[in-house]
Amino acid sequence: MVDVILGLQWGDEGKGKIVDYFAGRYDIIARFQGGPNAGHTLYVRNKKIVLHQIPSGIFHEKKINLIGSGVVLDPVTLRKECESVSAFGVDYRKNLFISDRAHLILPTHRALDKASEQSKGEEKIGSTLKGIGPAYMDKTGRNGLRVGDLMDRNFTNQYIQLRLKHQKLLDLLNFSEDISAWEQEFFDALEFMRQFNIVSGEYFINEKISDGQTVLAEGAQGSMLDVDFGTFPFVTSSNTISAGVCTGLGVAPQKIRDVLGVSKAYCTRVGGGPFPTELFDAAGETLRETGQEFGSTTGRPRRCGWIDLVALKYACMLNGVTQLVMTKADVLDAFDELRLCTAYVSDGQLTKRVPALLAKKHIEPVWESFPGWKTNISALKNYSDLPEAMKEYTEFIASYLAVPITYISIGPGRDQLVRNPVP
Ligand code: GDP
Ligand code: IMO
Ligand code: MG
Repeated sequence: MVDVILGLQWGDEGKGKIVDYFAGRYDIIARFQGGPNAGHTLYVRNKKIVLHQIPSGIFHEKKINLIGSGVVLDPVTLRKECESVSAFGVDYRKNLFISDRAHLILPTHRALDKASEQSKGEEKIGSTLKGIGPAYMDKTGRNGLRVGDLMDRNFTNQYIQLRLKHQKLLDLLNFSEDISAWEQEFFDALEFMRQFNIVSGEYFINEKISDGQTVLAEGAQGSMLDVDFGTFPFVTSSNTISAGVCTGLGVAPQKIRDVLGVSKAYCTRVGGGPFPTELFDAAGETLRETGQEFGSTTGRPRRCGWIDLVALKYACMLNGVTQLVMTKADVLDAFDELRLCTAYVSDGQLTKRVPALLAKKHIEPVWESFPGWKTNISALKNYSDLPEAMKEYTEFIASYLAVPITYISIGPGRDQLVRNPVP
């Protein structure tokens, strides 16, 4: 069976930490979409490490980690990351597997990402510039190169053909930066990739499932960045929701059991696009400083705001969330008052739905207010020790969403997680 851990907001909910926490219970940990736009932070032996391409189960010895077919893979990032995990004693040659159907991110995809953002001016998406959009465009446009193509003696030729196509687009966008250094490291990294276990991802995973092994699918980005159901066009280019597990790994929907949705106790977003509960005041600044809300991939300050239950309920619906894991609750420790958005006023109409054209609408949030708990919770061990005011806050959220909150994360450390025994 397959369980899923994915983000319910605009990314950076703390998925990496939660996957690392649960990974020991599974045989295989698999990324199913996205690419190095992801930045998943883990603490291993009290040292911080940020993973972009490799699944967050990599620090558990004897667990298989799979980069699935739905991922777009940058060999250069992969190589750097392999070097940093091996400094922790991880033998990635043994426990990292890559699907031959995963598409490659080429240097020109990164250039196209940059050129496209520059051409958009004020309307830019705020992409991480890792080449994600152009790589997925080449996949759906049926032009892309895949990991399996590396085995083909004709690979360099295929690369040159695609590069020529990209050059025409880059010329149209007036992009004239020299990317020869990127190409050099790309080809070096391709050589490095030859040492990996490259497998037919869909057979690999289904055979393991048939043998009774268990899979934890690790989402990247968040549900509100989903290309179909997120805040289009300010989204990423993949299906970040649970449906993406089936298309990204090649597993049937009946194989999916639990969907653990991860949400912060408040809300953040990095990059452009609508964010109804965004704060521009001292409270927003406090969230950013206390929560250390700076992008794990780009270092950009994250936009901060109160929790948005309208968007969260929408995400629970899209994903079929069976349990909610609430992270960064400790960041709210010092607040006198906490707010939650329970409805939107859009064009004068009260609604509890996320409109498809959210990016074009002016939204006024409707607020519910709760007193803060004013207690340092980061060292607590048991749910029963949590302050009453905090239980009221989380129980209100669980009841609004009609989803149990089974775990509450109270700090970045692997063990700073409290289980709710009776959700
Ligand atoms: P991901 O992309 O969803 O894996 O999340 P990121 O790693 O980009 O961002 C989450 C950040 O919050 C990281 O710096 C984590 O170390 C940190 N973090 C995770 N859980 C908690 C928590 O419960 N409390 C605090 N204070 N920090 C946390
Ligand atoms: P994790 O997995 C937060 C955002 C970018 C931008 C938009 C499109 O760490 O949660 P892209 O590079 O995909 O073209 O960017 O999506 N974005 C993320 N925001 N966390 C992420 O990943 C993100 N990956 C992309 O900031 O707004
Ligand atoms: Mg992140």
